[in-house]
Amino acid sequence: MNEKLEKIKVQLLQKLNTVNKLEDIENIKVEYLGKKGEITSLLKTLGQMPPEERKEAGSLINTLRQEVESNIDGKLKMMKDLEIEKKLESEKIDISIDKFSRDFGNKHPLTAVLDDIKNIFIGMGYSIEEGPEVEYAEMNFDMLNTPKDHPARDLQDTFYITDSIILRTQTSPVQARTMLRQKPPIKIIVPGRVYRSDSVDATHSPMFHQIEGLVVDENITMADLKGTLERFAKECFGESTRIRLRPHHFPFTEPSAEVDVSCFVCGGEGCRVCKGEGWIEILGGGMVHPNVLELSGIDSKKYTGFAFGMGLERIAMTKYDISDMRYLYENDVRFLKQF
Ligand code: DAH
Repeated sequence: MNEKLEKIKVQLLQKLNTVNKLEDIENIKVEYLGKKGEITSLLKTLGQMPPEERKEAGSLINTLRQEVESNIDGKLKMMKDLEIEKKLESEKIDISIDKFSRDFGNKHPLTAVLDDIKNIFIGMGYSIEEGPEVEYAEMNFDMLNTPKDHPARDLQDTFYITDSIILRTQTSPVQARTMLRQKPPIKIIVPGRVYRSDSVDATHSPMFHQIEGLVVDENITMADLKGTLERFAKECFGESTRIRLRPHHFPFTEPSAEVDVSCFVCGGEGCRVCKGEGWIEILGGGMVHPNVLELSGIDSKKYTGFAFGMGLERIAMTKYDISDMRYLYENDVRFLKQF
Protein backbone atom coordinates (compact mmCIF):
# COMPACT_ATOMS: atom_id res chain seq x y z
CA MET A 1 0.00 0.00 0.00
CA ASN A 2 2.65 2.34 1.16
CA GLU A 3 4.64 1.80 -1.98
CA LYS A 4 1.67 2.45 -4.19
CA LEU A 5 0.94 5.72 -2.46
CA GLU A 6 4.55 6.78 -2.69
CA LYS A 7 4.43 6.12 -6.42
CA ILE A 8 1.33 8.23 -6.84
CA LYS A 9 3.01 11.06 -5.01
CA VAL A 10 6.19 10.93 -7.07
CA GLN A 11 4.16 10.82 -10.27
CA LEU A 12 2.15 13.82 -9.21
CA LEU A 13 5.22 15.82 -8.35
CA GLN A 14 6.73 15.04 -11.73
CA LYS A 15 3.57 16.12 -13.49
CA LEU A 16 3.36 19.32 -11.52
CA ASN A 17 6.93 20.09 -12.43
CA THR A 18 6.34 19.86 -16.15
CA VAL A 19 3.22 22.00 -16.44
CA ASN A 20 3.10 25.75 -16.34
CA LYS A 21 -0.42 26.64 -17.36
CA LEU A 22 -3.15 27.26 -14.82
CA GLU A 23 -5.64 25.06 -16.65
CA ASP A 24 -3.18 22.14 -16.75
CA ILE A 25 -2.88 22.30 -12.99
CA GLU A 26 -6.66 22.44 -12.65
CA ASN A 27 -6.77 19.28 -14.79
CA ILE A 28 -4.24 17.55 -12.55
CA LYS A 29 -6.31 18.52 -9.57
CA VAL A 30 -9.36 16.83 -11.10
CA GLU A 31 -7.26 13.85 -12.10
CA TYR A 32 -6.24 13.20 -8.47
CA LEU A 33 -8.85 14.77 -6.26
CA GLY A 34 -11.96 14.95 -8.48
CA LYS A 35 -14.99 12.67 -8.04
CA LYS A 36 -13.38 10.03 -10.24
CA GLY A 37 -9.88 11.04 -9.28
CA GLU A 38 -7.15 8.64 -8.34
CA ILE A 39 -7.11 9.45 -4.65
CA THR A 40 -10.89 9.58 -4.43
CA SER A 41 -11.08 6.09 -5.88
CA LEU A 42 -8.43 4.89 -3.42
CA LEU A 43 -10.56 6.20 -0.57
CA LYS A 44 -13.51 4.29 -2.04
CA THR A 45 -11.52 1.02 -1.78
CA LEU A 46 -11.33 1.45 2.01
CA GLY A 47 -14.85 0.03 2.38
CA GLN A 48 -13.81 -3.33 0.99
CA MET A 49 -10.77 -3.62 3.24
CA PRO A 50 -10.64 -5.72 6.37
CA PRO A 51 -11.13 -3.43 9.37
CA GLU A 52 -7.60 -3.98 10.73
CA GLU A 53 -6.03 -2.76 7.48
CA ARG A 54 -8.61 -0.08 6.91
CA LYS A 55 -7.46 2.12 9.76
CA GLU A 56 -3.85 2.32 8.69
CA ALA A 57 -4.64 2.58 5.00
CA GLY A 58 -7.21 5.30 5.70
CA SER A 59 -4.70 7.40 7.53
CA LEU A 60 -2.03 6.85 4.85
CA ILE A 61 -4.41 7.81 2.04
CA ASN A 62 -5.60 10.88 3.91
CA THR A 63 -2.04 11.98 4.53
CA LEU A 64 -1.35 11.53 0.82
CA ARG A 65 -4.50 13.49 -0.05
CA GLN A 66 -3.37 16.37 2.12
CA GLU A 67 0.09 16.31 0.57
CA VAL A 68 -1.36 16.18 -2.92
CA GLU A 69 -3.72 19.05 -2.12
CA SER A 70 -1.03 21.20 -0.63
CA ASN A 71 1.34 20.52 -3.54
CA ILE A 72 -1.31 21.39 -6.10
CA ASP A 73 -2.43 24.49 -4.21
CA GLY A 74 1.16 25.57 -3.76
CA LYS A 75 1.79 25.26 -7.46
CA LEU A 76 -1.48 27.07 -8.26
CA LYS A 77 -0.53 29.92 -5.99
CA MET A 78 2.92 30.14 -7.52
CA MET A 79 1.44 30.28 -11.00
CA LYS A 80 -1.04 32.98 -10.03
CA ASP A 81 1.70 35.06 -8.40
CA LEU A 82 3.84 34.64 -11.47
CA GLU A 83 1.01 35.74 -13.68
CA ILE A 84 0.38 38.87 -11.60
CA GLU A 85 4.07 39.62 -11.64
CA LYS A 86 4.18 39.26 -15.42
CA LYS A 87 1.18 41.53 -15.78
CA LEU A 88 2.71 44.18 -13.55
CA GLU A 89 5.95 43.93 -15.44
CA SER A 90 4.27 44.37 -18.81
CA GLU A 91 2.16 47.28 -17.64
CA LYS A 92 4.98 49.07 -15.89
CA ILE A 93 5.96 52.49 -17.23
CA ASP A 94 9.67 52.94 -17.10
CA ILE A 95 10.19 56.63 -16.68
CA SER A 96 13.95 56.29 -16.75
CA ILE A 97 14.17 54.99 -20.27
CA ASP A 98 14.58 57.30 -23.24
CA LYS A 99 12.78 55.04 -25.63
CA PHE A 100 11.48 57.54 -28.11
CA SER A 101 14.44 59.83 -28.42
CA ARG A 102 12.99 62.87 -30.10
CA ASP A 103 14.80 65.29 -32.34
CA PHE A 104 14.24 68.67 -30.81
CA GLY A 105 14.31 71.56 -33.21
CA ASN A 106 16.53 74.55 -32.77
CA LYS A 107 16.04 78.26 -33.14
CA HIS A 108 16.07 79.79 -36.58
CA PRO A 109 19.33 81.75 -36.92
CA LEU A 110 17.39 85.03 -37.09
CA THR A 111 15.54 84.19 -33.88
CA ALA A 112 18.76 83.10 -32.18
CA VAL A 113 20.54 86.35 -33.07
CA LEU A 114 17.50 88.46 -32.19
CA ASP A 115 17.28 86.76 -28.78
CA ASP A 116 20.99 87.45 -28.19
CA ILE A 117 20.58 91.10 -29.15
CA LYS A 118 17.48 91.53 -27.00
CA ASN A 119 19.31 90.01 -24.04
CA ILE A 120 22.30 92.32 -24.48
CA PHE A 121 20.10 95.41 -24.44
CA ILE A 122 17.80 94.15 -21.70
CA GLY A 123 21.01 93.70 -19.71
CA MET A 124 21.72 97.40 -20.22
CA GLY A 125 18.27 98.39 -18.95
CA TYR A 126 16.40 98.72 -22.23
CA SER A 127 12.80 97.66 -22.70
CA ILE A 128 11.31 96.24 -25.87
CA GLU A 129 8.73 98.13 -27.94
CA GLU A 130 6.84 97.12 -31.03
CA GLY A 131 4.89 98.97 -33.68
CA PRO A 132 2.66 98.26 -36.69
CA GLU A 133 4.08 96.99 -39.97
CA VAL A 134 1.30 98.78 -41.86
CA GLU A 135 2.18 102.35 -40.99
CA TYR A 136 1.25 105.93 -41.79
CA ALA A 137 3.64 107.52 -44.26
CA GLU A 138 3.63 110.43 -41.84
CA MET A 139 5.03 108.28 -39.01
CA ASN A 140 7.53 106.54 -41.25
CA PHE A 141 8.82 109.76 -42.84
CA ASP A 142 7.47 113.17 -41.72
CA MET A 143 7.72 112.53 -38.00
CA LEU A 144 11.32 111.51 -38.61
CA ASN A 145 12.24 114.76 -40.30
CA THR A 146 12.24 113.19 -43.75
CA PRO A 147 11.19 115.78 -46.34
CA LYS A 148 8.41 115.16 -48.88
CA ASP A 149 10.89 114.98 -51.74
CA HIS A 150 13.25 112.49 -50.07
CA PRO A 151 14.16 109.66 -52.47
CA ALA A 152 13.28 106.97 -49.88
CA ARG A 153 9.63 107.98 -50.27
CA ASP A 154 9.72 107.07 -53.93
CA LEU A 155 7.31 104.42 -55.20
CA GLN A 156 10.32 102.49 -56.33
CA ASP A 157 11.51 102.04 -52.77
CA THR A 158 8.37 101.98 -50.68
CA PHE A 159 5.25 99.80 -50.84
CA TYR A 160 2.25 102.12 -50.80
CA ILE A 161 -1.14 100.84 -49.69
CA THR A 162 -2.77 104.26 -50.13
CA ASP A 163 -1.18 107.68 -50.56
CA SER A 164 -0.86 107.98 -46.81
CA ILE A 165 -0.48 104.34 -45.69
CA ILE A 166 2.57 102.22 -46.45
CA LEU A 167 4.40 99.13 -45.30
CA ARG A 168 6.98 100.62 -42.97
CA THR A 169 10.42 100.83 -44.54
CA GLN A 170 12.18 100.97 -41.18
CA THR A 171 11.52 100.42 -37.47
CA SER A 172 12.27 104.11 -36.86
CA PRO A 173 8.57 105.22 -36.77
CA VAL A 174 8.32 103.43 -33.41
CA GLN A 175 10.70 106.14 -32.11
CA ALA A 176 7.98 108.72 -32.80
CA ARG A 177 5.19 106.47 -31.55
CA THR A 178 7.02 105.90 -28.27
CA MET A 179 7.93 109.56 -27.74
CA LEU A 180 4.33 110.63 -28.41
CA ARG A 181 3.15 108.26 -25.71
CA GLN A 182 5.90 108.37 -23.13
CA LYS A 183 8.01 111.13 -21.60
CA PRO A 184 11.78 110.74 -21.02
CA PRO A 185 13.69 108.89 -19.78
CA ILE A 186 13.16 106.59 -22.75
CA LYS A 187 15.38 103.59 -23.35
CA ILE A 188 14.00 101.13 -25.87
CA ILE A 189 14.87 98.72 -28.61
CA VAL A 190 12.35 97.91 -31.34
CA PRO A 191 12.71 94.68 -33.28
CA GLY A 192 10.43 94.10 -36.24
CA ARG A 193 9.79 93.43 -39.90
CA VAL A 194 10.28 96.14 -42.48
CA TYR A 195 9.50 96.25 -46.20
CA ARG A 196 11.15 97.74 -49.23
CA SER A 197 10.44 97.45 -52.90
CA ASP A 198 13.60 95.51 -53.63
CA SER A 199 13.96 92.42 -55.78
CA VAL A 200 15.32 89.31 -54.16
CA ASP A 201 19.02 88.56 -54.45
CA ALA A 202 21.81 87.35 -52.19
CA THR A 203 21.75 90.54 -50.10
CA HIS A 204 18.25 91.97 -50.68
CA SER A 205 14.73 90.96 -49.82
CA PRO A 206 11.47 92.95 -49.96
CA MET A 207 10.96 91.96 -46.32
CA PHE A 208 13.67 91.93 -43.70
CA HIS A 209 14.14 92.74 -40.02
CA GLN A 210 15.53 95.71 -38.18
CA ILE A 211 16.26 96.52 -34.60
CA GLU A 212 15.90 100.15 -33.66
CA GLY A 213 17.33 101.71 -30.53
CA LEU A 214 16.32 104.95 -28.87
CA VAL A 215 17.54 106.64 -25.71
CA VAL A 216 16.20 110.05 -24.68
CA ASP A 217 17.04 111.74 -21.41
CA GLU A 218 18.83 114.78 -20.04
CA ASN A 219 22.52 115.04 -20.92
CA ILE A 220 22.68 112.19 -23.40
CA THR A 221 25.71 112.62 -25.65
CA MET A 222 27.44 111.00 -28.58
CA ALA A 223 29.80 109.40 -26.06
CA ASP A 224 26.84 107.47 -24.64
CA LEU A 225 26.00 106.24 -28.12
CA LYS A 226 29.56 105.18 -28.74
CA GLY A 227 29.93 103.44 -25.38
CA THR A 228 26.62 101.64 -25.81
CA LEU A 229 27.43 100.41 -29.30
CA GLU A 230 30.89 99.34 -28.26
CA ARG A 231 29.46 97.31 -25.40
CA PHE A 232 26.93 95.81 -27.77
CA ALA A 233 29.56 94.92 -30.38
CA LYS A 234 31.77 93.20 -27.79
CA GLU A 235 28.87 91.19 -26.40
CA CYS A 236 27.64 90.26 -29.84
CA PHE A 237 30.90 89.53 -31.67
CA GLY A 238 33.44 88.95 -28.90
CA GLU A 239 35.36 90.97 -26.30
CA SER A 240 38.21 91.92 -28.63
CA THR A 241 35.85 93.64 -31.08
CA ARG A 242 36.37 97.37 -31.68
CA ILE A 243 34.01 99.78 -33.36
CA ARG A 244 34.50 102.65 -35.76
CA LEU A 245 32.14 105.52 -36.54
CA ARG A 246 32.13 107.04 -40.02
CA PRO A 247 30.26 110.29 -40.73
CA HIS A 248 27.02 109.71 -42.61
CA HIS A 249 23.64 111.30 -43.18
CA PHE A 250 20.24 110.30 -41.89
CA PRO A 251 17.34 112.79 -41.83
CA PHE A 252 16.47 111.88 -38.23
CA THR A 253 19.91 112.16 -36.63
CA GLU A 254 22.46 114.94 -36.42
CA PRO A 255 25.30 114.19 -36.36
CA SER A 256 24.87 110.77 -37.99
CA ALA A 257 27.27 107.92 -38.34
CA GLU A 258 27.63 104.54 -39.89
CA VAL A 259 29.14 102.08 -37.48
CA ASP A 260 31.57 99.29 -38.33
CA VAL A 261 32.90 96.49 -36.15
CA SER A 262 36.41 95.18 -36.48
CA CYS A 263 36.28 91.84 -38.28
CA PHE A 264 35.79 89.14 -35.66
CA VAL A 265 37.42 86.57 -37.93
CA CYS A 266 40.71 88.29 -38.81
CA GLY A 267 40.67 90.96 -36.09
CA GLY A 268 41.11 93.74 -38.66
CA GLU A 269 43.82 92.28 -40.88
CA GLY A 270 41.49 91.72 -43.81
CA CYS A 271 40.01 88.37 -44.81
CA ARG A 272 37.24 86.76 -46.83
CA VAL A 273 34.52 87.57 -44.27
CA CYS A 274 35.29 91.32 -44.20
CA LYS A 275 36.17 91.28 -47.90
CA GLY A 276 39.68 92.40 -47.11
CA GLU A 277 38.47 95.54 -45.29
CA GLY A 278 39.18 94.53 -41.70
CA TRP A 279 35.85 96.20 -40.82
CA ILE A 280 32.23 95.19 -41.24
CA GLU A 281 29.41 97.75 -41.37
CA ILE A 282 26.64 96.75 -39.00
CA LEU A 283 24.42 99.74 -38.28
CA GLY A 284 23.55 103.40 -38.55
CA GLY A 285 23.00 105.82 -35.73
CA GLY A 286 23.45 109.28 -34.37
CA MET A 287 22.09 111.96 -32.08
CA VAL A 288 18.33 112.33 -32.43
CA HIS A 289 17.64 115.42 -34.54
CA PRO A 290 16.03 118.18 -32.43
CA ASN A 291 13.21 118.36 -35.01
CA VAL A 292 12.38 114.73 -34.35
CA LEU A 293 12.16 115.37 -30.59
CA GLU A 294 10.02 118.48 -31.06
CA LEU A 295 7.68 116.82 -33.59
CA SER A 296 6.87 114.22 -30.91
CA GLY A 297 6.40 116.86 -28.22
CA ILE A 298 9.72 116.51 -26.43
CA ASP A 299 11.57 119.66 -25.39
CA SER A 300 14.84 119.53 -27.31
CA LYS A 301 16.37 122.22 -25.05
CA LYS A 302 15.96 119.96 -22.05
CA TYR A 303 16.41 116.54 -23.59
CA THR A 304 18.79 114.96 -26.03
CA GLY A 305 18.95 111.43 -27.30
CA PHE A 306 20.68 108.94 -29.50
CA ALA A 307 19.23 106.42 -31.89
CA PHE A 308 20.50 103.57 -33.97
CA GLY A 309 19.13 101.00 -36.38
CA MET A 310 20.55 97.71 -37.51
CA GLY A 311 19.55 94.99 -39.93
CA LEU A 312 19.03 91.64 -38.26
CA GLU A 313 19.74 89.62 -41.42
CA ARG A 314 23.03 91.38 -41.96
CA ILE A 315 24.16 90.68 -38.41
CA ALA A 316 23.06 87.04 -38.57
CA MET A 317 24.76 86.56 -41.95
CA THR A 318 27.94 88.16 -40.66
CA LYS A 319 27.95 86.20 -37.43
CA TYR A 320 27.22 82.82 -38.99
CA ASP A 321 29.04 83.42 -42.27
CA ILE A 322 25.90 82.95 -44.37
CA SER A 323 26.56 83.91 -47.96
CA ASP A 324 23.04 84.25 -49.30
CA MET A 325 20.09 85.92 -47.58
CA ARG A 326 17.63 83.63 -49.34
CA TYR A 327 18.73 80.69 -47.20
CA LEU A 328 17.18 82.48 -44.23
CA TYR A 329 13.70 82.32 -45.72
CA GLU A 330 13.69 79.01 -47.56
CA ASN A 331 13.05 76.87 -44.48
CA ASP A 332 15.35 74.12 -45.67
CA VAL A 333 16.06 72.00 -42.58
CA ARG A 334 19.45 71.01 -43.92
CA PHE A 335 20.38 74.67 -43.65
CA LEU A 336 18.50 75.44 -40.44
CA LYS A 337 19.92 72.43 -38.57
CA GLN A 338 23.41 73.90 -38.71
CA PHE A 339 22.77 76.58 -36.13
N1 DAH B 1 16.29 103.63 -40.25
C1 DAH B 1 17.61 103.52 -40.83
C2 DAH B 1 17.57 102.67 -42.06
O1 DAH B 1 16.61 101.96 -42.26
C3 DAH B 1 18.56 102.97 -39.84
C4 DAH B 1 18.85 103.98 -38.78
C5 DAH B 1 19.90 104.83 -38.91
C6 DAH B 1 18.05 104.04 -37.67
C7 DAH B 1 20.18 105.78 -37.95
C8 DAH B 1 18.31 104.99 -36.68
C9 DAH B 1 19.38 105.86 -36.86
O2 DAH B 1 17.57 105.13 -35.60
O3 DAH B 1 19.62 106.80 -35.88
O4 DAH B 1 18.50 102.65 -42.80
